[in-house]
Amino acid sequence: MARSLIIGAGGQLGTVLTQALRDIHGNDQVVRSDMRELDNITGPFEVIDATDADRIAEVVKKYEIEEIYHLAAILSANGEKNPLGTWDINMKTLFNVLEVSRMNGVKKIFYPSSIAVFGSEVNQQNTPQSSFLNPSTVYGISKAAGENWAQYYFQRYGLDVRSLRYPGVIGYQSLPGGGTTDYAVDIYHKAIEGATFSCFLEENTTLPMIYMEDAIRATIELMQAPKENIKTRTSYNLAGMSFSPKEIASSIQKIYPDFEITYEPDFRQQIAASWPQSIDDSRAKGDWGWNPKFNLESMTEDMIKNLKLKYSKAE
Ligand code: SER
Repeated sequence: MARSLIIGAGGQLGTVLTQALRDIHGNDQVVRSDMRELDNITGPFEVIDATDADRIAEVVKKYEIEEIYHLAAILSANGEKNPLGTWDINMKTLFNVLEVSRMNGVKKIFYPSSIAVFGSEVNQQNTPQSSFLNPSTVYGISKAAGENWAQYYFQRYGLDVRSLRYPGVIGYQSLPGGGTTDYAVDIYHKAIEGATFSCFLEENTTLPMIYMEDAIRATIELMQAPKENIKTRTSYNLAGMSFSPKEIASSIQKIYPDFEITYEPDFRQQIAASWPQSIDDSRAKGDWGWNPKFNLESMTEDMIKNLKLKYSKAE
């Protein structure tokens, strides 16, 4: 199946997912869309403000879209600056995608959820799939609600919505925007630039993370799995690795011994402290064969190798 529409294709995941899907299905089968024109556009592209349902419907009809990846959202840290506005945008865009899909015969939807759905009620070690959800951020509240709407549309209308609770995603290809886990991307850029990194989390704040290559593969494997294998219709726990700022810094220091990190925790520390430290993703493993490939060491090696290449090309 192809004719995919990526909403939020200019974002951290969208940039890489678009390319991965185009490698599988061909350029013209994957439509990129974002709120604004993007640079270096190849293949089909449309400007879509996902708060505008008519505009989504227009593009869905134009390309006879069969599956939508709805990646547009305001993340955890940015969301706290405008709680009600964040709720409005995160929910309205989801409802638009669900309704347009239902009304226009879109067959499959991908909806990203997050470790931000978990709060103080969970066991922070190996947090189980079925934990009680009391999110601490408006972003987490919107994702917890969104997961349940995903399940509702599946049960009520048979819409094949699939979802992952992503940990923090780390990649060299693109930058995250406005999340609590963003530090773990930024730190590599500072290491390559030879600069000291000032971390907005405390040194021992362990969080679940995943390398981009694994995150993209999980997304594609989930979407390609036979329908009957998808037994969790809210959102699957997904794990890659877990580490603290101190641990990622020492993995970088194995390659750059002079690299330095300082700690200046801000409001994001409190958000991070409310999230799990590690995730039990045994349902994803059992239902559709999930298995991450990267750990902290192999990720650090790959990040540094690829960022060095990128920086040397830009010079
Ligand atoms: N990486 C996201 C954030 O920090 C979590 O989903 O907001």
